[in-house]
Parts: sequence; C-alpha cells; structure tokens
Amino acid sequence: MKKVCIVGASGFTGGELLRILLQHRGVEIVCATSRRFKGEYVYRVHPNLRGFTQLKFVEPSIDVALKADVVFLALPHGESVKWVPKLYESGVAVFDLSADFRLKDPNAYVEWYKWPQPHPYPDLLQKAVYGQPELHRDELVGAKLVAVPGCMATASILMLAPLAKFGLLSDTPPVVDAKIGSSGAGAEGSVVDLHSFRTYVVRPYEPVHHRHIAEIEQELTRLAGRKVRIAFTPHAVDIVRGIFTTGHVYVEKLPSETDMWRYYRALYGDSKFIRIVKDRLGISRYPNVKYVLGTNIVDLGFELDPRLNRVVTFAAIDNLVRGAAGQAVQAFNIAMGFPEDEGLRQIPIAPL
Ligand SMILES: NC(=O)c1ccc[n+]([C@@H]2O[C@H](COP(=O)([O-])OP(=O)(O)OC[C@H]3O[C@@H](n4cnc5c(N)ncnc54)[C@H](OP(=O)(O)O)[C@@H]3O)[C@@H](O)[C@H]2O)c1
Repeated sequence: MKKVCIVGASGFTGGELLRILLQHRGVEIVCATSRRFKGEYVYRVHPNLRGFTQLKFVEPSIDVALKADVVFLALPHGESVKWVPKLYESGVAVFDLSADFRLKDPNAYVEWYKWPQPHPYPDLLQKAVYGQPELHRDELVGAKLVAVPGCMATASILMLAPLAKFGLLSDTPPVVDAKIGSSGAGAEGSVVDLHSFRTYVVRPYEPVHHRHIAEIEQELTRLAGRKVRIAFTPHAVDIVRGIFTTGHVYVEKLPSETDMWRYYRALYGDSKFIRIVKDRLGISRYPNVKYVLGTNIVDLGFELDPRLNRVVTFAAIDNLVRGAAGQAVQAFNIAMGFPEDEGLRQIPIAPL
C-alpha cells in the first residue's frame, strides 16, 4: 500500500486525482492540501466525492508531504519547482502535473514560460521522465520524478507519434488544430472563463506560440530522430471537459490505409487505453470527445487525402483524466509496479 499526498487537491486536476486514487486498491491517501479550504471536508469542494471519503484538506507544506511515499503535485506552473528538489532529495516519488519538469532544455523555460532565467535545476530536468506511458514505458519503471505531459500536448503527440516514428513527417511542419473545454483553465480561471463569456464560445487563443508546442516538438523530434516543428493553434470551445485535435500532415508519398493501421498498431497495439477509431459503420466513425469523457482512454483516428497528399489525424481525450490526473496515475502504476490500469478502468458514460 502506497501512502499518497495530493498537493493542490482543491483544483480540477487535484479533484480528479482524488476521484481516481480513491478507487485505487494499492493507495492510501494520507493528505490532500489546500490553502483556501484547510480544515474543510474535501467533498465540500468536490461534491462528487461525498460519501466516498471523510478526508479533510490540510495546509500545504513540505513536512506534510514528506509523510507520504508518493506526492502528486497539482500546482500551477512555477510552483512545483519549489517543491520537487526537496521531495526528490528525501526519496519521495514525485508526479508533477505542471510543466516545471517537462522540457529537457533549461533555456526553453525562458522562451515558453517567460521565466526570468533558465531552469534552476538542469540536473533534475534530465532525471525527470516525461510521463507519457505509451512512449516512455520502460523509463517509467521505478521512476522517482515524473513530469506528467500537458493536456493538449498529450493528444497531439499520441496522434502524430506513429507518423514521426515511421518517417512520414516531411520538412513541412504538421498543422495541429486543437479544441479544448473550459476545465482546461483550472478552477480559478480568469474573467473570460466565466459562464457569460464561455457559453457558445469558439475562439482561438495563443494561436501561434502556445506553450505546449515546446513539449510536442521535443517528443516528436525524439521519435523522428530529426528536428520536427509543428504549427499548433488551440481553440476554446463550449464544453466543460475534453480535447479534440486534428493534425494535417503533408507527406511526400501517401501511405496506404493498411500501412497506417500497421503504424498505429505497432506503437499502440499493447496499450490498454488507446483505441483506433476508424469505422465504416455505426454512429461514431472517427474519434469523438463524447465517448472518452471521465476516462483515461485516447481515441485516435486518421483519414487519407490523395488529392493533396495529406494524412489527416484525429485524437479525442478527456483533458482532466488522460490529459492530467489519469495519465499521472497510469505513470504511477508503471513506476510502482501496479497493473497499468489500476484505478483507471472506467467505461465512458453514454448518452451524455
Ligand atoms: N486543467 C487541466 O485540464 C490541466 C491538464 C493538464 C495539466 N494541468 C496542469 O495541472 C496543474 C493544476 O491545474 P488545475 O487545472 O488543477 O489548476 P487549479 O484548478 O487552478 O488548481 C490549482 C491548485 O493549486 C493550489 N495552489 C495554487 N497556488 C498554490 C501555492 N502557491 N501553494 C500551494 N498550493 C497552491 C490551489 O489550491 P489552494 O488555492 O486552495 O491552496 C489548487 O488546489 C497546472 O500546472 C496545470 O497547468 C491542468
């Protein structure tokens, strides 16, 4: 039984960590932190958990976290970096949901996260495992510091990884269009995340320099074995949960449909969570956010466009589960030797 502490447990991803880990048979949650709600029952902030736990929030501190074997950090970017070195040195395993340990290049934090100077712990950056289980499974075994990937990065990378690995990416950067629901902004969003501004919304944001570009390029470059750049534009849309990404990849020679299936199966054939959705019949023939919500499932799909020598790729995930808490628990399961899907066996709900 692993003793787990969730730091930042009052937020959206913290709430999802609680929901998932309460169903995990190898975990005892020994602390859940919140500065604002310390002393309060967690179900008062996460009403879906009423009846499932009598846990109360506690004030966040390193001392409290050190009572656990494993700490999940669900903190804003720039906060985790204050916690990780001390926890890591003390031998506590850390799963960080922020971006603070995702990028290998210390200087990238200046460009993409506007830090005033390069990352202060370049050694820890090298030790951190990028926690995308399907692409880093071997490194995750026994890992002590895991940087859980960003939500839109997760969908984009998993969607394009087979093309990167099997040499389909040309010098023309793939174009990735992403759509994301309001929970992507966290529980303390800005004014544009209020209902009046968010309802009916379909709008781009950070259209040419979104932070997730850095980790998407880092991972696709690693897989392709040469520098990959992507054109990435996210959009806020009127859903609470979910991410849908569409990738447009212009290729020199169009692969056959059989090849495409082969590439995806070669990479993901043994995955418990990845479904390739490309069907000729039925009411949902390509990935659809609707059929992954509340789960750690990734639905991937593709279509071929011989007119333009274009491969179109699709991914649908739940940003809070596969894009954050679920992926963190999947990585934790691999690191600690639990079945990879422990705590994550939910079947998507429908109709929804
Ligand atoms: N939302 C998503 O879809 C998503 C997906 C992937 C990754 N992420 C990343 O996951 C992290 C958490 O995101 P979220 O959406 O859960 O954010 P959130 O809803 O805003 O929650 C942030 C949490 O951090 C706590 N916190 C904030 N500042 C703190 C500080 N200085 N010291 C201690 N605790 C502090 C807050 O608690 P109190 O104020 O109550 O103390 C709250 O529990 C972020 O780095 C985010 O980028 C989010």
